[in-house]
Amino acid sequence: MHLTVDQIRSFHLNGFLSISEPITTPDEIEWVRESYDRMFSQREGWSAGDQFDLAGTDEKGKQETLPQVLNPAKYAPELNDGKFLGVVQTIVKELLGNDAEVGIAHAIFKPSGHGAPTPWHQDEAYWDPMQQYKSISVWMPLQEATVENGCLWFVPGSHEWEVLPHRSIGGDVRVHGLEMVDTSVCKNAVACPLPAGGITIHRNRTAHYAGPNTSDIPRRALIMMGGLPSVDYPGTRSFPWNEVKQTARAERETASRR
Ligand code: NI
Repeated sequence: MHLTVDQIRSFHLNGFLSISEPITTPDEIEWVRESYDRMFSQREGWSAGDQFDLAGTDEKGKQETLPQVLNPAKYAPELNDGKFLGVVQTIVKELLGNDAEVGIAHAIFKPSGHGAPTPWHQDEAYWDPMQQYKSISVWMPLQEATVENGCLWFVPGSHEWEVLPHRSIGGDVRVHGLEMVDTSVCKNAVACPLPAGGITIHRNRTAHYAGPNTSDIPRRALIMMGGLPSVDYPGTRSFPWNEVKQTARAERETASRR
């Protein structure tokens, strides 16, 4: 599978691209979904801080509203053998060049009925402000993704913005997830519903959002990340919203390293 010239042009112009042709087979989607569900049901990575509630305070016994697994291939190594990953590699190299490297970055599970929205954010706001990035996230749902169950929305052209001010969701520093402070700039967003195995692709600063899951099926998404090696940021900047965070996730990570 290759991108067309128009798709490449549209991606660089808008900072995102939606491909509604599945990049893999229904059979592969099915086994990926089985691995995926096992990771979440067995809470793989929880004690290492790799599994946590992105939108909540992540306390023991509390119902999770947006569980996430970082580096899922660590817990389900078979994912690295997926044909979808080869396709994503090809696409990322077509967009960023042959030096780009690709891996499976995370899995985000949006439970049916009570799955929380993923507020407006730019992915780069989570990262080290002293580095400069040229990277791409590839988001692949493992069932149909609709406006009702939480497909992604993007703001065209927002990849050209600086990283705008963020804060922990709801202003609660115990929550890992971030939200943009001023979302009035996100008015002309575009929803990108997809079939299972379709993908959306976005840049490190592209503003994006996913609604709550009001449907009666869970919304599963696997996210691949590709990019060129980061370089030192030319200048100074800080992301104070990351410095003030106090999450149970980070505590578990620190404790597991001792
Ligand atoms: Ni994101």
